[in-house]
Amino acid sequence: MNDKKISKYKNLIVYYFTGTGNALKTSEWLIEKAKEYGISTSLISIDRFEKIEKPVTNNETLIAFCFPTHGFNAAPLMLKFIRKFPKGKADVVIINTRGGLKFKKIFFPGLSGVAQFLPMLLLLLKGYRMAGSLPFDLPSNWISLHPGLTDSAINDIVNRRKEQMYKFADRLFRNGRAYNYKFFVYMPLDLAIIPIAAGYYLFARFILAKTFYASADCNDCRLCVNQCPTKSIKIINGRPFWSYTCESCMRCISICPKKSIQTAHSFIIPLLYLLSLIPITASVLNIFNIKTGDGVLAELITSFINWGITVLITIAAYRIFSHLLKIKFINKFFEYTSLTRYWRRYRFPDLTLTNKYFNSIF
Ligand SMILES: Cc1cc2nc3c(=O)[nH]c(=O)nc-3n(C[C@H](O)[C@H](O)[C@H](O)COP(=O)(O)O)c2cc1C
Ligand code: SF4
Ligand code: SF4
Repeated sequence: MNDKKISKYKNLIVYYFTGTGNALKTSEWLIEKAKEYGISTSLISIDRFEKIEKPVTNNETLIAFCFPTHGFNAAPLMLKFIRKFPKGKADVVIINTRGGLKFKKIFFPGLSGVAQFLPMLLLLLKGYRMAGSLPFDLPSNWISLHPGLTDSAINDIVNRRKEQMYKFADRLFRNGRAYNYKFFVYMPLDLAIIPIAAGYYLFARFILAKTFYASADCNDCRLCVNQCPTKSIKIINGRPFWSYTCESCMRCISICPKKSIQTAHSFIIPLLYLLSLIPITASVLNIFNIKTGDGVLAELITSFINWGITVLITIAAYRIFSHLLKIKFINKFFEYTSLTRYWRRYRFPDLTLTNKYFNSIF
């Protein structure tokens, strides 16, 4: 029997962004399958990209974009990358890893929101042809929000997903077209949460960037600084300082050898609560004598200004917070009141390290 695998593609280029390894491993599984079809492959990290080289493509090229879902959208760095990606005519596939969970014996999927639609739209407008898309549930890495999953839950999720990726890749390489039924099942819900995705992209991500700090155990090894995909950690007075460009990708918190990076729950929650009590927006509008009028549009403008002011105040408050952390007992107070101090961290198990920014660490 002739079991030679034949594909319309002769080369595959995978651009990926990963925080904690899920999207990297997903890309590697796709590449493993491509090799069975004799497809030549390249795997390219978009970490810290500045200029994008136009890939050499023809009608036998497939380009994959693989990235985590952040705030019901593609991770902002990948969105920026796709926005700046040169125009072309090759086939493209979108794979967004999502945060899956498992409690007892039940698996809970993540939610894409616009993490597929938006990259698809941008690429279609650039002339590319959509060959497929896959929302891909791997263990959730959002450990500012919940404890990292147990090893057994992680293994159960990973084992299920690996097979799913192989089947998807087979269809993609064989037929030049592969969509997952989940794309259509989730579509109404994904579209319904567009306002939340917009809120995350325009405001919430900047606030989340200002929730990280290093506890007193930090030994200034600067691993976090060197590995950050967006160069968002600076050292100020010998201590890491997170700038608003942080993507909350969770890489730094998952790799810190001293486990000293924490999410400052006891800083951000009271701050946001206080800001919600004070009618700051109304005062600002009053001072500048700005009238927004009535109706939905006026409400929208007021909310927009409100969130803008909240972000600016959070950025300013974080500066003060960072200074206060130099005082040992204040640092200890925030450390012991940060939930991440007690929660498991997450990183994809047994990562094979091909990413130059991951390379030196493990
Ligand atoms: C800030 C942040 C936001 C997230 N938002 C979502 C989301 O909207 N939907 C979802 O399914 N998963 C979400 N997740 C979970 C990740 O997308 C998921 O764990 C992903 O597989 C991580 O991939 P990585 O290890 O390659 O970074 C979020 C994670 C973080 C850290
Ligand atoms: S990786 Fe951890 S210990 Fe090293 S500088 Fe960053 S916060 Fe400090
Ligand atoms: S600072 Fe940490 S969480 Fe933020 S983008 Fe860099 S590595 Fe990711």
